[in-house]
Amino acid sequence: MKILIINGPNLNLLGKREPTVYGHQSFDDYFEVLKSSFPKIDIAYFQSNYEGAIIDKVHEVGFTYDGIVLNAGAYTHTSIAISDAIGAVTTPVVEVHISNVHAREKYRHHSYLAAKCVGVIAGLGLDVYRLGIEYFKNK
Ligand code: DQA
Repeated sequence: MKILIINGPNLNLLGKREPTVYGHQSFDDYFEVLKSSFPKIDIAYFQSNYEGAIIDKVHEVGFTYDGIVLNAGAYTHTSIAISDAIGAVTTPVVEVHISNVHAREKYRHHSYLAAKCVGVIAGLGLDVYRLGIEYFKNK
């Protein structure tokens, strides 16, 4: 089983960025722990601050991988283009958010991506990535 985690803009700063919202752990550190929790699953990771690069990645893996766990960051709330990319591929996508976007600013309450995704997990900290992978594992 092959799963790709995609992180969007500013998520390269996890551990340094607003730690009261996003925690103190870097994604690289978390990713090592995550991979060891799923020894039988091939888990890849991609991060970009660029909308087009995220779309290219969805196209690249979106007909062969078993699942994508996507935290599109702020593009969640703005990007019809990423929404179209999710709709264009056959690989199912789970949308995740580290913070509880519904308890934050109003502009974070709407997702252009959610309707194209199989589900959404938000507000549980970095554990949302593990839960996204669990979904694909148990499917
Ligand atoms: C986020 C929530 C978004 O609103 C924000 O723009 C992010 C991170 C989260 O993981 O909680 O960059 O997707």
